[in-house]
Amino acid sequence: MITQEKIAEIRARASVVEVISDYVTLKKIGRNHVGLCPFHGEKTPSFTVNDEKGIFHCFSCKAGGSVFNFLMQYDHLSFPEAVECVGKRYGIAVERSGKNRDSGGEADRDALYRLNECAAANYHRVLFNDVLGRRALEYIKKRGIEESVARRFMLGFAPPYGSGLLEVAKKEKLSLKDALRLGLIGQREGNRFHEKFFDRLIFPIVNAGGKVIGFGGRVLEQGIPKYLNSSDTPLFRKGSTLYGLFQAKEAIRKRDRAVVVEGYLDVIALHQYGVDYAVATLGTALTVEHVRALSRYTKNVVAFFDGDDAGSRAAERSFQIFVEAGLLGRAAFLPNGEDPDTFIRARGKAAVEELLDRSVPLADYYFASLEHRYGKTLEGKSQIAGEISRVLQKVRNPFEVDLLIARAVDSLGIREEFFRKPLQSSVPPKPPLLANRRLSSSDLGNRANAAERSLISLILRYPRIAGYVFEEADVRQWVGSAWREIIDLIRTEWQEHENVDVGRIVQAFDSEVAAQIAALAIEGENVPETESQKMADDCIAHLRRKYLREQERNLRIAIRTAEEQKDENATRERILEWQEIVRKERQLERRKLAPKITAR
Ligand code: GTP
Ligand code: MN
Repeated sequence: MITQEKIAEIRARASVVEVISDYVTLKKIGRNHVGLCPFHGEKTPSFTVNDEKGIFHCFSCKAGGSVFNFLMQYDHLSFPEAVECVGKRYGIAVERSGKNRDSGGEADRDALYRLNECAAANYHRVLFNDVLGRRALEYIKKRGIEESVARRFMLGFAPPYGSGLLEVAKKEKLSLKDALRLGLIGQREGNRFHEKFFDRLIFPIVNAGGKVIGFGGRVLEQGIPKYLNSSDTPLFRKGSTLYGLFQAKEAIRKRDRAVVVEGYLDVIALHQYGVDYAVATLGTALTVEHVRALSRYTKNVVAFFDGDDAGSRAAERSFQIFVEAGLLGRAAFLPNGEDPDTFIRARGKAAVEELLDRSVPLADYYFASLEHRYGKTLEGKSQIAGEISRVLQKVRNPFEVDLLIARAVDSLGIREEFFRKPLQSSVPPKPPLLANRRLSSSDLGNRANAAERSLISLILRYPRIAGYVFEEADVRQWVGSAWREIIDLIRTEWQEHENVDVGRIVQAFDSEVAAQIAALAIEGENVPETESQKMADDCIAHLRRKYLREQERNLRIAIRTAEEQKDENATRERILEWQEIVRKERQLERRKLAPKITAR
């Protein structure tokens, strides 16, 4: 658990522009900084960062939130990890008590990370500093792996009779139950623990933030299975993890290009020879999540495939994966019988980059495979068109939609409208934000809540007006339930600080809602401050009208019920109440029509 004070200290010290600039090139325009959004593909910048408010917001994909939300989304960090990361950048140490019971999940994850870290460090120590590691050290030498690269990837060795992990865990007071959960150890009958990895070269698997989440282990020389991976744990999901992403991400961003291969040793060899923008899946097929993770760093992803038939079939299949992740993707093919490791060692970096430069759009393989499958008959073409139409529904980027449609029109001779029509009616897919939320963001975006939105947007942009709004009206009464929680917090903020700190408010909510709040603070109608009060008045009047209308409706129902029950007293009372409401409504209407002559 990180204390609220610590979070506040870090937030106060951190500049959201500085932190995001580590990841995105930003340019100052007016009060904001803008750049190309890292969360979706775009050619013109709609990613906006406001230092004063401590928030970011993308006008296109609607991603947004605090500096912590940024890191959570960009590097897939948990909230405490994001706080820690920002703290580190500003030299603020974050001490986290591991045994805090009510912080439950987070403290738990922390202990698991520590265990993995310890295990990795221990395997690494054995490889380089223990006689038990000698055989493995010889093996990696024989495979041509340089020491600096082995260290960069934290390679290690789990010797045949244990690496001493159990002793380390005991000394560091780490829980063996956690070690079981992480698949580091197993338990045989008679309660005896044993290490899961033995006599294997160890490849620690780290997440994009550099934390160890799992392990891969390779037998030295022959043996079955050749590779053993950690099974899925609370920290590790094979199908969404890319080996080497942490080591490659800077280069991927700089070169604006990424290469996906299959093996641990392929990544290591590519990096050693200077193709340091390579990552690998973990022995599984490429998934949408893999491609999405890469798309945060670059839009240009090339996948390496074998040069045989199986390779081109894999290329066909991966097109749809790429498209669903918002990228088009390209394929490069290796000569038969080579993998990237053997190829780059034999032919060097230039030869690999030549293959990459000659890569082919995956769409080519996809279109070719469709023709192959359905044939060039009229019926075949219509089936192909149908399938392309379905794929197009998943494409987010309008530029890519155009490209694919042009392509389909060209090769099928079918009118463009055939593909355009169904797209117009379809709902645009949601941006890839974190899914858990307390408030439903669709409720927040609801048209019926437009006045609430405007009012909150006004307060967030011009905190000074909050005082007026809260004085003028008990906003709570009128705010639709979806915004209730947010307006309550803004009100408390105002009462406690006579100011509205957007960063602090954003931070109180889950990512999706945080994004909506940031959006309101940055975008919205561009009302100059001089007009903000008039606009606030309009919104308040609107809310008041809506509230009265609702009351009036309820009373009419109550009157009818009372009449049906022949309850004359109740009927009379309800009618009086109803008249009062109607009177108020009329008053409001008159005020709306009459020009306002109050002096301000
Ligand atoms: P070397 O044979 O040492 O060059 O490794 P490699 O990475 O070239 O191996 P290969 O091409 O056979 O496999 C590619 C990737 O698939 C590996 O890096 C592993 O992630 C995965 N893999 C290969 N064999 C196995 C296996 O037996 N079990 C599991 N779980 N994964 C495997
Ligand atoms: Mn290999």
